[in-house]
Amino acid sequence: MSVIPHILITRQEIHEAIDKMAGEIRRDYADKNPLLIGVLKGSFIFMADLVRQIAIPLEVTFTRLSSYGSGTESSGKIKVLARLGETVKDRDVIIVEDIIDTGLTTAYLISYLNKRKPASVRLCSLTDKPSRHKVPVKIDYLGFTVPDKFIVGYGIDWDEKYRYLPDICYVE
Ligand code: IMP
Ligand code: MG
Repeated sequence: MSVIPHILITRQEIHEAIDKMAGEIRRDYADKNPLLIGVLKGSFIFMADLVRQIAIPLEVTFTRLSSYGSGTESSGKIKVLARLGETVKDRDVIIVEDIIDTGLTTAYLISYLNKRKPASVRLCSLTDKPSRHKVPVKIDYLGFTVPDKFIVGYGIDWDEKYRYLPDICYVE
């Protein structure tokens, strides 16, 4: 099967959206030294651009959750593969996600984090597919609402491919 990625959101639009989200985070977290937790692997490019625009003192870490494998449907069975231990206790945490689809991964991560007694937890996501949510998710800082298509590029993969594309694309 051959797959052609089509541009959905250009790199220019991505950077404008990041400027806006970063400005909101800068305003909300001045003097709080927030801990940004990126969900690997999809958030790695977004995180790198986001923290440079936030430009206030903050810390960065990453976690990894069990993923789709090579399919395009969430199994709903989630595991935290890179555990966070004591690092979140008493911290103002901001989860940095690439895409919210069913919301199951994020809901699981939020409950995992809350057990570790952070001072606060908020969610920042580059993209969201609201038509696909299976559980309620409150996104505090959002880049783009996207249609129910399979998204790739700007860190987001399809079976490990296309992460390097500079624009957000969809495949059919
Ligand atoms: P959820 O648990 O269904 O919300 O899925 C969350 C994760 O599934 C995301 O962080 C992505 O890793 C992956 N995912 C969901 N939709 C897409 C997509 O359209 N393209 C690539 N990965 C996706
Ligand atoms: Mg992800």
